[in-house]
Amino acid sequence: MAESDAFVRFEGVVAGYGGGDVLKGVDFEVPQGGITCIVGPNGSGKSTLLKTVSGLVHPRLGQIWFKGTPLVGLSPKEILKLGVVQVPQNHSLFREMTVEQNVELGAFLVKDRKVIAQRMDHVRDVFPIVAERAKDKAGSLSGGQQRLVEFARCLMLEPQLVVLDEPSMGLDPKTLRAMFATIKLMNSVGRTVLLVEQNARQALKMSHFAVVLENGQVRLSGTGHEVLNNPEIGALYLGGSIEEAAVTGEGS
Ligand SMILES: Nc1ncnc2c1ncn2[C@@H]1O[C@H](COP(=O)(O)OP(=O)(O)OP(=O)(O)O)[C@@H](O)[C@H]1O
Ligand SMILES: [Mg+2]
Repeated sequence: MAESDAFVRFEGVVAGYGGGDVLKGVDFEVPQGGITCIVGPNGSGKSTLLKTVSGLVHPRLGQIWFKGTPLVGLSPKEILKLGVVQVPQNHSLFREMTVEQNVELGAFLVKDRKVIAQRMDHVRDVFPIVAERAKDKAGSLSGGQQRLVEFARCLMLEPQLVVLDEPSMGLDPKTLRAMFATIKLMNSVGRTVLLVEQNARQALKMSHFAVVLENGQVRLSGTGHEVLNNPEIGALYLGGSIEEAAVTGEGS
């Protein structure tokens, strides 16, 4: 297998949980510096694919290259040290600890107090809520606010790749918009984002690249715009065709 100079490259990835393969040969690349979105029906293997990146699921065949380094076989901690950080799908803050303490925990791999302090300053700039609610218990925040603190905590590692599995899960429409804006913000401060989203239309609009996963294989890939405007994909996964959406005014 040849080394790859892509930022992230999936090469013939086959993986599952013992009861048969969920991913049946996945090939695609995640370009550096952008937002890449994976969409597809329930059970198509989106979460499984993200778990192969963070080392929680080990592919049976194939390889995942991260800046030329093969990830298959590495432990989740080794992958974290390389700069790949996955924000868990479920709420993962320590509710009895303060917002500040939770965010500081994100830097657990960093030993230098000065570096931690610098990163805290940066994170407070990006996420004002970390300063505003610093001394409040994380458990006292709303679901959407907790999600922002989870993002803030992940930035403490200065990740090169942020992996997000359905970050909009359980958020009300207003918080959802704020959350999408925050993903854009994280991207604009230099983080490459790999994202799975159920709100496919909204997510594709802000994504530079997109992949449609179907039954464990890549059905289509392209720019977010291309996938969004593919009539077949629109009809299948985005709740009606583009024409219908235009008539109802949705997506404008
Ligand atoms: N821990 C597990 N053990 C066994 N099978 C699993 C496990 N997790 C997922 N699966 C199975 O793998 C298949 C793909 O699941 P996966 O969670 O990757 O899909 P998904 O695309 O993320 O779906 P959703 O849109 O519902 O989140 C499903 O058939 C699921 O039942
Ligand atoms: Mg999933």
